Amino acid sequence: MSVIPFLGYAIDLLAVLLLALGLKGLSKVRSARSANGLAALAMGLAVAGLLLQEQPDALAWLWIVLGSLVGGGLGWLMARRVAMTAMPETVALFNGCGGMASLLVALAVALFGDGSADMVELVSVVISVFVGAITFSGSIVAMGKLQGWLGTPAWTQSQVRHGVNIAIALAALVGALAVPGNPAGSALWLLVVASTLLGIGVTLPIGGADMPVVISLLNSYSGVAAAAAGFVVGSQLLIVAGAMVGAAGLILTQVMCTAMNRSLVSVLFGGALGGSAHVGGGGDEAGYSHIVSCSAEECAMALETAERVVFVPGYGLAVAQAQHALRELSKLLEAKGAEVSYAIHPVAGRMPGHMNVLLAEADVPYEQLVEMDTINPEFPRTDVVIVLGANDVVNPDAKNDPQSPLFGMPVLEVDQARQVFVVKRSMGAGYAGIKNALFELPQTAMVFGDAKAVLQQLCSEVRSAG
Ligand code: TAP
Repeated sequence: MSVIPFLGYAIDLLAVLLLALGLKGLSKVRSARSANGLAALAMGLAVAGLLLQEQPDALAWLWIVLGSLVGGGLGWLMARRVAMTAMPETVALFNGCGGMASLLVALAVALFGDGSADMVELVSVVISVFVGAITFSGSIVAMGKLQGWLGTPAWTQSQVRHGVNIAIALAALVGALAVPGNPAGSALWLLVVASTLLGIGVTLPIGGADMPVVISLLNSYSGVAAAAAGFVVGSQLLIVAGAMVGAAGLILTQVMCTAMNRSLVSVLFGGALGGSAHVGGGGDEAGYSHIVSCSAEECAMALETAERVVFVPGYGLAVAQAQHALRELSKLLEAKGAEVSYAIHPVAGRMPGHMNVLLAEADVPYEQLVEMDTINPEFPRTDVVIVLGANDVVNPDAKNDPQSPLFGMPVLEVDQARQVFVVKRSMGAGYAGIKNALFELPQTAMVFGDAKAVLQQLCSEVRSAG
């Protein structure tokens, strides 16, 4: 082996190590940003290593440079423009691109290969096409549903869909079995079309509330498709990186299923259970009785005498971009001697870690962010809880009402605190589209308004109280 390809393999190895370190670092808020940089560096090295090994000709270089410019440019533009609240859709789109890339690599080998592929490669082509196509179409549907471009058609909620999906899966199986015999034949196209339809058929019936789980599962699929593509083109790096992404996505899926109290089987085959972001119901003003509302001034008075205050951030805090005002209020309360912490629910907001990222933007100290399991036993000794644009994650029906679509989902037990103030704009429902029993409890008062405006008012009230 000459020196340059050897150098290419050494760079590959370094890229795998950096990628593993990057994935590990992503599990902690403190190290997530640098871990992301590390993983990006690993990907850059992976490309460099491949170029050294393959030593492409001039035409290939042209494609590589063009592809890098177009892909890199689009990625840069999207990363600059995307709102934090649209991150799940963006992740879905990226997963779809990953699936599409694996599908195209496998198709290229099947259609334009020199016919020397062995059985392992042919089986890998089948897996890469099957999983890649499902990942692509499923991710695009997931993105469309989250963006509100696609609804959940009524027929997908009936048992008919299982029959349709089984028929499509059988067609994909027929194609898959025939591909190794004639890789470039019509069976390949049957496999492509059937797998694409299967991705749509499985994802379309799934309700908005389950979509984060689906996206994380599709992320895992994109890893599996990439690993299979690695076998197709003989790239150890792609196999290892794909396997890591596949495993990480699966673990995240499991964690999210637990946090949302959904089994994976019920997410995939249960239809739009648990409500949907876009299908409200039961959460409108008419559904409530005994609501007590109060002004920011009254809320500030309770805060001034509180020794222990817990803020519960939710999706509305992100919408209002009120994290800096919240940090300001915390500082004022701490200066008065109050103990302040932030209760973090694993699926508060619209993406994993949403609240951590949001509060990190405002330099909230990490040690004040307390995970649900740790803070729940602390609520009974908490004087004041301020719920800021959170709804489903503090709904006590999840514990108390077996009829509730949220029943069984672990929630922040703020109803145990002495006094609860809920800051939101109206009696409107949260993501699950259901009524919240917390709002009617005697210890709860609603402070209506945009989270940022209310927090700014609270700051000036607390400040003026001296
Ligand atoms: P939600 O249940 O979605 O409630 C958010 C609340 O914020 C709404 O009730 C809304 O009420 C209020 N709000 C909106 N804009 C506001 C503003 N400018 N100022 C003040 N309040 C505002 O949020 P959550 O408690 O964070 O729960 C998250 C939900 O999303 C869960 O059901 C979860 O399963 C789901 N989900 C999570 C993820 C991940 S991975 N985190 C991804 C997708 C879905 P008003 O309209 O009355 O103001």
